[in-house]
Amino acid sequence: MNTIKVFAPATVANVVCGYDILGFAIDEPGDEIILSKNNSHQIAITKIEGDGGKLPKNPDKNVVSHVIRLFLKKINSDQGIDIELYKKMPLNSGMGSSAASSVAALVAINELMGAPFSRQELLPLAMEGERIACGNAHADNVAPALLGGLVLVRSYEPLDALRLPYPKDLSVVCVHPYVDVPTGEARKIIKERISLKSAVQQWGNIAGLVAGCCTNDLGLVGRSLEDVIIEPVRAMLIPYFYEMKQFALDSGAIGFGISGSGPSVFALCGNMEIAEVISQKIKELLSQKNIESESFVTKINEDGARVIS
Ligand code: HSE
Repeated sequence: MNTIKVFAPATVANVVCGYDILGFAIDEPGDEIILSKNNSHQIAITKIEGDGGKLPKNPDKNVVSHVIRLFLKKINSDQGIDIELYKKMPLNSGMGSSAASSVAALVAINELMGAPFSRQELLPLAMEGERIACGNAHADNVAPALLGGLVLVRSYEPLDALRLPYPKDLSVVCVHPYVDVPTGEARKIIKERISLKSAVQQWGNIAGLVAGCCTNDLGLVGRSLEDVIIEPVRAMLIPYFYEMKQFALDSGAIGFGISGSGPSVFALCGNMEIAEVISQKIKELLSQKNIESESFVTKINEDGARVIS
């Protein structure tokens, strides 16, 4: 095999209460990558589309070439690779754009080189892509993009990421308002210390969310989608966050929150019809406030990254 094309999905990290430890993949949007072997022993980015010219083509600076280099180093290979990256999702949106690119790259290079690693084994390499992208090797975007479904990062040291069951009926709406919230900045504003009272409330919600997902109890899922630590701080970076939340909950969402570090927001819904209505209403609200946005109504992605051809 000399050429391969892979898709990797966008992801919703944190899932409201699980900062850095919970995330799920969604069916769309996502990124596509084409890798081809070359004889030059060099890694070259030959094409990037859909990024508005914002991503570096210099292989020393791009997350995709970075993780491919780490992979090849790990298997002691000097294989040359040409990279074509097709960004099919918004950059800096809070929907795991860098994670989708890193994961697509790693799944592709792994297949191209005879699949020496499992998806779990690719996870630490994908996390290194996040370190380049935002300064922190968090796993709650890359793990679901690699493994699919809803993923819990139970521990970082040692790394222990596992898939959880989730209610298959869930529909997801993600709305991306066109405002700038870089992940690195959105991480810096979070308080280093929290009160025991807040911690108790938060871990109650995380346990409730996991239990609700495992038992298909949407009421419990909804009650648990509450964040008393991160959301109150980050909400101020997202214009009309609380208005959007109220709209979504009044329209029947099970829960609503910031997707990853924002500015995208998401709602979990019991069916596609409710998700469509919420998508429309939030877009209208933002448009009335002169904020452009795009939205995605989708499902949780079961399989994670996949080989297209
Ligand atoms: N857990 C990360 C954060 C996700 O909230 O900063 C970034 O998409």
